[in-house]
Amino acid sequence: MTRNVVSSETRAWWKEAVVYQIYPWSFNDSDGDGVGDLAGIIEKLDYLDELGVDVVWLNPVYDSPQVDNGYDISNYRAIHDQFGSIEEWQSLLDGLHAREMRLIMDLAVNHTSDEHDWFRKSEANPDGEYGDYYLWHPGRRTVRAEASPGPADRAPPNNWESHFGGPAWAWSDVREEYYLHLYHERQPDLNWANPAVRAEIHDLMRFWLEKGIDGFRLDVINVISKPESYPDGDPRSGWIGREHFVNGPHVMDYLQELHDEVFAEYDAMTVGEMPDVTVEQARAYTGEDGPLDMVFNFDHMRLDFGETGRWAIGDWSLPELKAVLSEWQTGVDGSVWPSMFFENHDQPRIVSRFGDDEQFHYESATLLGTILLTLRGTPFVYQGQELGMTNCEFESLDELRDVDTINNVRMLMDERGVSDYSEIRDLVEHRARDNSRTPMQWDSSEHAGFTTGEPWLPVNPNHRELNVADERARPNSVLSYYESLIDLRDESETLVYGEYELLLPDHESVFAFTRTLGDDQLLVVCNFDEGYTSVRIPGLDPASELLLANYDDVPHQSPLDLRPFEARIYRRT
Ligand code: GLC
Repeated sequence: MTRNVVSSETRAWWKEAVVYQIYPWSFNDSDGDGVGDLAGIIEKLDYLDELGVDVVWLNPVYDSPQVDNGYDISNYRAIHDQFGSIEEWQSLLDGLHAREMRLIMDLAVNHTSDEHDWFRKSEANPDGEYGDYYLWHPGRRTVRAEASPGPADRAPPNNWESHFGGPAWAWSDVREEYYLHLYHERQPDLNWANPAVRAEIHDLMRFWLEKGIDGFRLDVINVISKPESYPDGDPRSGWIGREHFVNGPHVMDYLQELHDEVFAEYDAMTVGEMPDVTVEQARAYTGEDGPLDMVFNFDHMRLDFGETGRWAIGDWSLPELKAVLSEWQTGVDGSVWPSMFFENHDQPRIVSRFGDDEQFHYESATLLGTILLTLRGTPFVYQGQELGMTNCEFESLDELRDVDTINNVRMLMDERGVSDYSEIRDLVEHRARDNSRTPMQWDSSEHAGFTTGEPWLPVNPNHRELNVADERARPNSVLSYYESLIDLRDESETLVYGEYELLLPDHESVFAFTRTLGDDQLLVVCNFDEGYTSVRIPGLDPASELLLANYDDVPHQSPLDLRPFEARIYRRT
């Protein structure tokens, strides 16, 4: 009925897809070393097929010293030993394609590892071929601040900060210069202004595309261009220097070149992770003549930040969440195709964050899933989200593995004069990236069926009740609800291509919206509250067909009496 409403120019396979993100460290370990691997993922391909997802986004599996779990790449054309071999990688790709699923690879090209050959050569020989591959600087001839790196008479070029805490400049004793690292000091930033660097990056992307992959997730791709004068950043900023290096001077040129040189040749999906981006900027990065297909923005992930930013907890409200999400749904006349996500390997678990991971675990996890899969845009489901996996309790700092958490927490403890972990535990358990990195919960056995060895990060103790095997056996589980949601989205062009309209924007506990395509209209109503809410939805006809709900026995009535975290999807008749 509605098929013809969508023009062929509007259609794209990646708009119709549901993406599933796999964090290889924690998905499934086939050889008992406590770390997940490619063979482990292959064992679970039928699981993904049954779930009904269309695309897998695989976090980095390239060779790497693993300082930042693979985002520090030392060889872009090799697979890290612990994950397996290039042959296993090929079997994974073939296995996905055989099941009509696609694979997108994660690529970090803002920086490499300091163990990359380019960096070693660059550090050893400033005048050689690689001398200019990274962002080197002699520093300022002045007495440096005590906490700063480098020799006593030489200060770093500016006050920029690393996202993982501390200065963004490290001193190389070998080259006797500073180099920039916007992340860990073992992740030096590449010099994108050098055309030879860009050509290398184009080449390595072609290498993987020629192997048949279906696209890339581009790590922190809007920080690749830095102003040559290296101005100081506003010291009050949560990430000092961001106004200079986020969406920097030439980023659009570099991405356009990437598009013309590489992407234009392939039917690839590209999604750029962008730490700070407005809808208007996203329109330029994507859109018909933009270089990328989608961007990841983090506006909704900042709602529970505190006054001092990420390492503080703040209050969030539903009207704010609705406003932020709606801006991306309809901004710039709806010309931006959103990427929809509530979780990834850097974010704590959503049911612990915006839901209720205790009393209304099932209801709130499925409500959040309902919103994710019925909003406009390509939905990304992070491993374990389909089970309603929750944040974890960490008994001590020694249980954490993530450099970002460890560095930032140490600095915070110093700053606040806190010596005891218990004083900062709440914040850590709320914010740590380790929360989403605990092993996937396959069953109730000792290590959740993830490994026969010692898991690299503790398994969440709640795996005894919360795991795939149990949820498979129960009809009313988060997993079976996700399967239904994904089916529904697969069958409904309206959920993919329909226009979005927010209803009741100021309502404190109800998130309601319509999706409309031609004469088909779906209505999504969610009660974001642990109490009951009675609400009159404008235009809801009691005869509307109920397509899916997370409660049984949904009565026909108006106004609606919604139960705690109740979610319903109607088709208007
Ligand atoms: C991105 C990745 C994150 C990584 C960082 C540096 O934000 O998602 O995991 O630590 O970039 O590469």
